[in-house]
Amino acid sequence: MNAKWLGLGMILAGLWLSPGAQAVQTVEKNYAEHCASCHGAERLGGTGPALLPENLARLRRPEAIKTIAQGRTATQMAGFSDKLTKEEIEALVKLVYTPLPKMPVWGADEIITSHIQHVFGTLPDKPVFSADPLNLFVVVEVGDHHATILDGDKFEPIFRFPTRYALHGGPKFSPDGRFVYFGSRDGWVSKFDIYNLKTVAEVRAGINMRNIAVSGDGKTVLAGNYLPHSLVLLNAEDLSLIKVIPTEDGSGKSSRVSAVYQAEPRGSFIAALKDVKEAWEISYTEKDFPIRRIQVKDYLDDFFFDQSYRHLIGAARDGKKGQVIDLDSGKLVAEIDLPGMPHLGSGITWEYNGHPVMATPNLKEALVSVIDMQTWQTVKQIKTLGPGFFMRSHENTPYAWTDGFSSGDPASRDAMTLIDKRTLEVAHILRPMPGKTAAHVEFTRDGKYALVSIWENDGALVVYDAATLKEIKRLPMNKPSGKYNVYNKITHSAGTSH
Ligand code: HEC
Repeated sequence: MNAKWLGLGMILAGLWLSPGAQAVQTVEKNYAEHCASCHGAERLGGTGPALLPENLARLRRPEAIKTIAQGRTATQMAGFSDKLTKEEIEALVKLVYTPLPKMPVWGADEIITSHIQHVFGTLPDKPVFSADPLNLFVVVEVGDHHATILDGDKFEPIFRFPTRYALHGGPKFSPDGRFVYFGSRDGWVSKFDIYNLKTVAEVRAGINMRNIAVSGDGKTVLAGNYLPHSLVLLNAEDLSLIKVIPTEDGSGKSSRVSAVYQAEPRGSFIAALKDVKEAWEISYTEKDFPIRRIQVKDYLDDFFFDQSYRHLIGAARDGKKGQVIDLDSGKLVAEIDLPGMPHLGSGITWEYNGHPVMATPNLKEALVSVIDMQTWQTVKQIKTLGPGFFMRSHENTPYAWTDGFSSGDPASRDAMTLIDKRTLEVAHILRPMPGKTAAHVEFTRDGKYALVSIWENDGALVVYDAATLKEIKRLPMNKPSGKYNVYNKITHSAGTSH
């Protein structure tokens, strides 16, 4: 049918439709014509990212309008202001923030079909560079979706490569530090060989994913999804599928997965569920990965472990109390006072007055809670300039560093607060680039240097001497989100989240 007849057909069809139904038809037609080739007919993604409200949670509507009208420079996303009216673009924005009518299917077939093997056979078990392989940093640059492998002695980039769109949750290392695994917002899991500087394999484990964990024996990867409601077990070797586990409670009520972690001393993965009151322990050392369901008092959004992995400390986004669960007995052993919205996933531990304490930043309130991990009592709530997001320290430094990343106020977003772990007092405030957002710290293997992100497209990594607090070096980076030191991560340093 030529365009004229198609147009006439649509006018005629329109005569039988209400104005609302016509608008729906137009936006769907516009989507199919202009967007589906890259973003997928069902909005599940393709060469472009998935366009679902769950995936776009961090994209504000005005920004979405601007993206569609003007496009994004240096990407395949072109502007549509010459092809679509303002109203049509607004209707498309409304569409992409509308949930799908049914839970999208992403099961074994879809996962297996998505699998990409980039490297066949084995690559040399020796780095192709001379830098200390245990003192490397993997820097995630979310500005243009790249990662940089950085020499942690010279602070020089070794290699920069593209990642999947919008990495989510920290990357995870194999126990020997040779491989790094990334998880993306849209569900992609990628395995990168640091020694050979090559992406080995990729697979799409979900539509909207929270994070991944790598087992302590390095053999298995677990991915936790919001969409669909599932956990996905993969072979760490080649990311081939082991199995999909739908996340449902005994009565069949399904749930999103808040987060997954590995608990090496227990030989298990722990998964927190967001919509049912259960935490799951999945053994990776036993045949068929048996699941143990632990009943919890409140939904778990975020959690933390003590260094021995005996206790899980969990919090609900809107709960006032944190729950301490003994993983051996599966029982609630204490409730802790955690006001606001603690970010337990970023918690750290150290010894204070002979007691192990944990500290967590807070996404809503300008404070850091310090909790005694024997009595589970609050030792102190330390006032900071603004609500933070990340917190880090190292065994060889007296300071715990935290940011003001969750603050709406630019005067605290550009500051790093250094808390003295011996006195629990704020010891220093650093402003690496006044007026620009500072976030996320990581230390070198020996704890002598601290690397801070300037979270801007024309941002940087700022390297500080962790003792004198003098700036040593500044490396330009495109919105560096996190940076992860191989040694600190594979040894589960008490100063870093796991
Ligand atoms: C040629 C491929 C292509 C087409 C056609 C296309 N896009 Fe995109 N789109 C992309 C890519 C690639 C990105 C990611 C850009 C980046 O790296 O920031 C993107 C990003 C977006 C984003 C931002 C997503 C986010 O997570 O921030 C929105 C919204 C979007 N596109 C909507 C649309 C709409 C609506 C249409 C149709 C009118 C469309 N796109 C057509 C490739 C495409």
